[in-house]
Amino acid sequence: MSLEYQCPLCNDALLKTDSTLRCANNHSFDFAKEGYVNLLPVQQKNSKQPGDSLEMVQARHAFLECGFYGFLQNALGSIVSTLNAHNIIDLGCGEGFYTQSLANKSQANIYGVDISKSAVKYAAKRYSNCHFSVASISKAPFNDQFADVLVSVFAPLFEKELARLAKPGATLIVASPGPWHLKELKSYIYKNINEHTEIVTPSEFTQGQQLLLTEKVSLNFSDVKNLIMMTPFAWKFRPEHWTALEEKGEHTVTLSFYVTQFTKIGNGINS
Ligand SMILES: C[S@@+](CC[C@H](N)C(=O)[O-])C[C@H]1O[C@@H](n2cnc3c(N)ncnc32)[C@H](O)[C@@H]1O
Ligand SMILES: [Zn+2]
Repeated sequence: MSLEYQCPLCNDALLKTDSTLRCANNHSFDFAKEGYVNLLPVQQKNSKQPGDSLEMVQARHAFLECGFYGFLQNALGSIVSTLNAHNIIDLGCGEGFYTQSLANKSQANIYGVDISKSAVKYAAKRYSNCHFSVASISKAPFNDQFADVLVSVFAPLFEKELARLAKPGATLIVASPGPWHLKELKSYIYKNINEHTEIVTPSEFTQGQQLLLTEKVSLNFSDVKNLIMMTPFAWKFRPEHWTALEEKGEHTVTLSFYVTQFTKIGNGINS
């Protein structure tokens, strides 16, 4: 697998020798024993441990491993398998659940990038078929027009950076919550639940095919706990909500995702 990172300090190419990446200006970054590289300079860290915490990472891993989001994983894999790509970046890859499955569906070099060291460590330890790095996706460590395919699953979208990273004609695939995603769980903490809307087309892209995938699943308390702990609204659940959830035991929960494809404006391999 070829490796093409850009130095986060001076934007020069990083070359690999042994277990170090180094640029012409002698900035160097060591690979961790798990196989990932940390390309997040202190200047780009807005907290001591940016991104998802180890607790969230463990909850997400436990939940995803049960296969409840397998239908989303399969849909992403099917799309990627039809695209002729050289470089794919999974932006905000978490612990690599989708990243590694995309690597099984494509001949491309697959990069997973996340600002959470805990998440990337988890990913790199388990999956050797992708390149993982700790970095910010608001300033990702790749050259302009590096990617033929960009993937974003429930991760923040930085429009300018998406436009910079994508080759003309590249495909951006975004998975975002469908209209009533997790509505049964949200009803514990919100009086009125707002329907999720489709995401707005990022500038310099045009919208292509969109899927709306929805399934109702039956979850026990342990699954529900993991599912809530991996979401941004986990902190809204008070002890009384947890008690109510535990007493109910079995929960029917709506899982719903938009999977939207966008094409970078310009002529390229996928246009
Ligand atoms: C909801 S999680 C989704 C993780 C993964 N895509 C999945 O669906 O399993 C969002 C991820 O975005 C990461 N993230 C948030 N802000 C980021 C940034 N500026 N740069 C890189 N990753 C970021 C978090 O650390 C977290 O792992
Ligand atoms: Zn450098």
